[in-house]
Amino acid sequence: MNIIRKIRQQFVEYIKHIFDPIVNVYLRRRYGIKKAYQGMFTSSNMYEVYQSPLFNGCYERSILNDSTLARQKDSLRFRYYINASIARLAISGGGDFVCVGVSYGVAPRLIYEYLKPTGFWNGSHKFFLVDKFDQAWCPSMGTKIQQSYCGSFRFIKEEFQEKNFEIIKQHAPQAFVEYRINNKISFLLLDANDMVSEYKTIELLYDQITCPGFIIIDNYGAYASNEAINSFLKTNNNFVIPIGNHQGIVIKLWE
Ligand SMILES: C[S@@+](CC[C@H](N)C(=O)[O-])C[C@H]1O[C@@H](n2cnc3c(N)ncnc32)[C@H](O)[C@@H]1O
Repeated sequence: MNIIRKIRQQFVEYIKHIFDPIVNVYLRRRYGIKKAYQGMFTSSNMYEVYQSPLFNGCYERSILNDSTLARQKDSLRFRYYINASIARLAISGGGDFVCVGVSYGVAPRLIYEYLKPTGFWNGSHKFFLVDKFDQAWCPSMGTKIQQSYCGSFRFIKEEFQEKNFEIIKQHAPQAFVEYRINNKISFLLLDANDMVSEYKTIELLYDQITCPGFIIIDNYGAYASNEAINSFLKTNNNFVIPIGNHQGIVIKLWE
């Protein structure tokens, strides 16, 4: 039964890969709209996302880390652009950066390269990478394995050798109980695909976030319910801005 489901899934993916570019070309020519993300189309010029030499150079380099994601690089471009540009804003907070859910590290590699020209990494700022690299998929809902996630810690150690990176090889939120980040945090990217650990991470780290400070919940729109996150933020006079591409952004402007 499982094998049949797997074959069917792969067949659908295969068909999507064939038809996606054709549909995109048709929509662009006929209606002047293009695909910005899975299920999201726009007629906006999107110059920064598609043509900006700095972003494109960094994106083309970092997406190569993950061959599965690289196959969908055009539809993921907008999502990663949001990560990079919010990270650029987060410089203003003056604190450290944290990425929860790293896999092959497309987002942290992109953000690191994108911010390099600002000189931000020349200072003592840290970029914490939190993942157990055990290919866990939604561990809070029962242990499952996602083969496309990175299971090689060696790859990560080699890929992230710059002095700014600190790798915490543990799941969140446990990682933040065992390893205390002393500095303030200006940028928190949650991409573990696990609503419970992401909620608990926000709860644990929220006081440590600077003003201004930024949280990206990468799969916010994919969850059926975000009640825990929403009500926690409400008690802190804050809220998530859903931006229609599954990501939700929290901007902390006051304590
Ligand atoms: C979608 S991938 C991350 C992709 C990555 N942000 C990128 O841009 O390449 C999800 C990762 O989260 C990890 N993960 C799952 N549960 C986690 C948790 N509770 N804490 C930290 N990482 C977790 C998985 O091992 C997997 O590597």
